[in-house]
Amino acid sequence: MSHPATPVVPETVDGAATPPADGEEIIRFAHVGKAFGDKVVYEDLNLDIRRGETLTIIGGSGVGKSVCLKMLIGLLKADRGSIRAFGDEVTTMDERALMGVRSRIAMLFQGAALFDSMSVEDNIKYPLREHAWGTEEQMDARVAEVLELVDLPGVQKLRPSELSGGMKKRVGLARTIAMKPEVVLYDEPTTGLDPITVRRINGLILRLQERLGVTSVVVTHDMDTVFTVTNRLALVYQRRIAFVGTPEEARHSDIRFLREFIKGGRGVLQEDLS
Ligand SMILES: Nc1ncnc2c1ncn2[C@@H]1O[C@H](COP(=O)(O)OP(=O)(O)OP(=O)(O)O)[C@@H](O)[C@H]1O
Ligand SMILES: [Mg+2]
Repeated sequence: MSHPATPVVPETVDGAATPPADGEEIIRFAHVGKAFGDKVVYEDLNLDIRRGETLTIIGGSGVGKSVCLKMLIGLLKADRGSIRAFGDEVTTMDERALMGVRSRIAMLFQGAALFDSMSVEDNIKYPLREHAWGTEEQMDARVAEVLELVDLPGVQKLRPSELSGGMKKRVGLARTIAMKPEVVLYDEPTTGLDPITVRRINGLILRLQERLGVTSVVVTHDMDTVFTVTNRLALVYQRRIAFVGTPEEARHSDIRFLREFIKGGRGVLQEDLS
């Protein structure tokens, strides 16, 4: 209950992201392999994530970005290799231990993924209840707090069907951060949203990092996200992470489509990777 409420979310985000966090490494993928039948998604995935940073993951459609996030929280099992979170090996954890990981590393899924039959309030309480987080009163207070944080105060009783796409996304984010996770995984948080809502979501990602010290991993195709919230950029290509570095370093990478992507040619990125 200690996080301050931050009622005003800027419509726009000015300036670049804060400098790369020099934080300790809290997540490490080492030599991870993953296939579905004949389809090899990762041959040798290596990646580290540092406390307090915002790491953006880019790559063509179907290359394995979502799979990478899902393996980290144990929704998909790696075939081989090691994934460590806060020093513990995730790949061999049982469901109970994974629940613990998921309270520290929360994921905002691709698509809003709200339960249509439940009110906004019950949607946000869902993970809290699952983790026996607190009393009804404590949960009510937390729901109000996170809705303020995403600039949607007072929508507790509404149903998802009564919300716009951007509002649903923000309720999804409120649900994701309800448990006060240390790490938030965003799977395409701005896809399909209008430019103003995109900036608002990017502003929220930045705010969570700056105000609450949240470590963020953002899968995106959106250049505004890359240039406003990203400390380090990772490219998924040819069944591995082919590049990790700052957006500035990506500009000078010897990978042509990465340079093109940075210049704004994301169509080229899609084309070259397909
Ligand atoms: N549960 C699953 N069962 C079988 N195949 C899967 C499963 N999840 C993902 N895949 C396959 O793994 C590959 C990578 O999928 P993934 O969802 O990670 O792609 P992505 O990079 O997130 O793409 P997009 O940008 O379209 O979301 C795809 O070929 C996909 O079909
Ligand atoms: Mg995906």
